[in-house]
Amino acid sequence: MSIQTDNIQKLVERRQKARLGGGEKRIEAQHAKGKKTARERLELLLDPGSFEEYDMFVQHRCTNFGMEKSHPDGDGVVTGCGTIGGRLVYVFAQDFTVTGGSLSKTMSEKICKVQDMALRNGAPCIGLNDSGGARIQEGIDALAGYGEIFERNILSSGVIPQISCIMGPCAGGAVYSPALTDFTLMVKNTSYMFLTGPAVVKSITGEVVNQEQLGGASVHASKSGVTHFAADSEEEAIETIQKLLSFLPQNNLEPAPFRETADPVGRVDDALNSIVPDNPNKAYDMYAVIGSIVDDGAFLEVHKEFAKNIIVGFAHMNGRSVGIVANQPAVLAGALDINASRKAARFVRFCDAFNIPLVTLVDVPGFLPGTQQEYGAIITNGAKLLYAYGEATVPKVTVTLRKGYGGAHIVMSCKQLRGDVNYAWPSAQIAVMGADGAVNVLYDKEMKEDPENARTIFENRKKEYEELFSNPYQAAQKGYIDDVIEPRNTRFRVIRALEQLAGKRQEIPAKKHDNLPL
Ligand code: HXC
Repeated sequence: MSIQTDNIQKLVERRQKARLGGGEKRIEAQHAKGKKTARERLELLLDPGSFEEYDMFVQHRCTNFGMEKSHPDGDGVVTGCGTIGGRLVYVFAQDFTVTGGSLSKTMSEKICKVQDMALRNGAPCIGLNDSGGARIQEGIDALAGYGEIFERNILSSGVIPQISCIMGPCAGGAVYSPALTDFTLMVKNTSYMFLTGPAVVKSITGEVVNQEQLGGASVHASKSGVTHFAADSEEEAIETIQKLLSFLPQNNLEPAPFRETADPVGRVDDALNSIVPDNPNKAYDMYAVIGSIVDDGAFLEVHKEFAKNIIVGFAHMNGRSVGIVANQPAVLAGALDINASRKAARFVRFCDAFNIPLVTLVDVPGFLPGTQQEYGAIITNGAKLLYAYGEATVPKVTVTLRKGYGGAHIVMSCKQLRGDVNYAWPSAQIAVMGADGAVNVLYDKEMKEDPENARTIFENRKKEYEELFSNPYQAAQKGYIDDVIEPRNTRFRVIRALEQLAGKRQEIPAKKHDNLPL
């Protein structure tokens, strides 16, 4: 055998060994937990044969607690780039089979390298997390490594899409990298995220709780909103990442990708003409409206289980990516509360940062009243959504379907927040408040003075108020909305507006950065 052949043989063997990570036994243990290895996950995520690995031979430099005895190639994370649907992405996947995927300084250097390359080359960065946290043997070096990653998350924010998928443990300060990225996904039953685990919780507060109850996917999808998606399996999580990317541009300087569709622009839907019930207090399902107006009825919902009184997600309209924000009258009557405001504000800001036009469907009776909301700072949180819409410079098309009351009407992408095209259905009621509330405020004294006729006074005044305000024409007369449209035509009217706005250019005053109400 020549020296060169021997060298090549050694390389092949070393690569083979590195690909086994922590070894076959640990791979079996990983499989026994219902989890895939880092490489298996990347194989599923990336286009076949597209993975270009970096730093396969990087080793940790720790000399404490016996770590000096073992230097596995790759050190617990697989990094590199590849393509998804033919488009470049940078990836890192933590390998739990090597020291529990714990983060060493060298692991952080590997991750930072792909973060830097993603930012420099304007491509999304995707992290698959499965880690026991800071590598205990490395002490402050491991913590410094986290700091380096966080800083890159921050600098990349709003420049390239960043996606985190939690596929195992993610505890302590480690949770902050996913929290700094644009979208987090979790896998039910095999992943969890928390700052302090069940044992510490018990010792400090006495509360007995297991990992799943404390920080499982379902909890974070429905209660905290920390995760945007909760998948039933790793396969489903990876498929969701692929779908999500199909709506997103590569970076903030590119337009969102175009997707061919056979769904006609001029498709009308007669069912929309009767979807709003005659009784203004009766609910209907906003999903039916969304499904009717977007291409092929296809909608990728974000934060599906969290703050269900508002719906946000991605769709295409005549091939263009759009972000849909819609009040859901079927939950809390579509009222805005703290969580709904936070959820929608974050989504609006993402779409604005990445050139994705916003289509807003409004049926909002107002903000949810009560001490719980006031004490929880609905003022500050509601202002987040107001701010997000007001600063957004992407095309903004709004349709008011029914209620658009008070401050909530203003918040939901109204004309005065630089809404570009604002339509209303004939069923729209754009007013300071609903008729019942208004009459009670305005004629309370009159009704108290004449209790026998109070009912009649109420009904007469209500009729008067409804004739004046419970329609879209006051707003239309003043140009606050641009047109009253027949519901069945909503798809093509919105698409036509979006086509018209495709070349929109709008600026915000120069500043270091804004100071949105956090
Ligand atoms: C070093 C670690 C490790 C860590 C796990 N391992 N976590 N090694 N540092 N943080 C090692 C284990 O010793 C074990 O090695 C192997 O990984 C697999 O771990 P197991 O415990 O056998 O696996 P499992 O039973 O599935 O339990 C997983 C686990 C548990 C729940 C994650 O390992 C655990 O509690 N680890 C510690 C978690 C933690 O407290 N991390 C620090 C959080 S604070 P062998 O050789 O036996 O196979 C933090 C600060 C970040 O991260 C700050 C950022 C600013």
